[in-house]
Amino acid sequence: MKERLLFLGPPGAGKGTQAALLSKKNHLLHLSTGDLLRIEVSAGTVLGKKAALIMDKGELVSDEIVLSIVQKNLSGQSQGWLLDGFPRNLVQAKALEPLLEEIMQPIQAVILIEANDEILVKRLLERGRADDNEKVIRNRLEIYRDKTAPLINYYSVKGLLKSVKGNDEVNIVAKRIQEALN
Ligand code: AP5
Repeated sequence: MKERLLFLGPPGAGKGTQAALLSKKNHLLHLSTGDLLRIEVSAGTVLGKKAALIMDKGELVSDEIVLSIVQKNLSGQSQGWLLDGFPRNLVQAKALEPLLEEIMQPIQAVILIEANDEILVKRLLERGRADDNEKVIRNRLEIYRDKTAPLINYYSVKGLLKSVKGNDEVNIVAKRIQEALN
C-alpha cells in the first residue's frame, strides 16, 4: 500500500475522519495542520492566539506558520505519513517539495474526497466546532474553491491524484480509499 499521502477535499468531506482510520490501521503518522493549530489555540501560545483570529473567520493561517509546523513534525520521520488539510494552496504545495526531497520521501498518492455542499454544510453544523457556523462554513467553502481546489489539477498532472466519493457512510468511503491506495 502507498504510505506517503496527502488528503485533499472541502471542509466536512471527511478528511480528518478517514485519515484517523487509515493511519491507525496502517501505522502512519497522521499530521492534521488543523488539529495542530487547535492544540496551539487551546494551549494559548503566541502562535495559537494569532491563529485563532484567522481560524474563527475561516481564513487560511499564514503559509509561514503552517510550513514551520509541518517541517517540525515531518523531519526525522521514518514511518509512512498522511498529511491532512495541508497543503492548502499552491505556495504550500511548492514549499512542501524541497522539504520532502530533503528527507527523500516523495508523495505517493493524493486522495481527494468529494461531497456536495448540502451534505458538507449539514455535517459541519451538526458537529458544531468553533468554526462550524453557517457564515464561517460558507467562507471556508469559498476559500477551498479559490485557494485549495487548484491543487486538484496540480497533483492530477503529476499523476498522483485519486478521487473518492465521500457522500456515503464512513466505512464505505474508507473502503474506497483503501482500494485507491492498493
Ligand atoms: P481543518 O481543521 O483542516 O478543517 P477543514 O479543512 O475545514 O476540515 P474539517 O475538519 O471541517 O473537515 P474534514 O474534511 O476533516 O471532515 P471531518 O472528518 O472532520 O482547518 C481548520 C482551519 O485551520 C482552517 O479554516 C484554517 O484557518 C486553518 N488551517 C488548517 N490547515 C491549514 C493550512 N494548511 N494552511 C492554512 N490554514 C490552515 O468530518 C466533519 C464532520 O462530518 C464530523 O462530524 C464527522 O463525524 C462527519 N463525517 C465525516 N465523514 C462522514 C460520513 N462519511 N458520513 C457522515 N458523517 C461524516
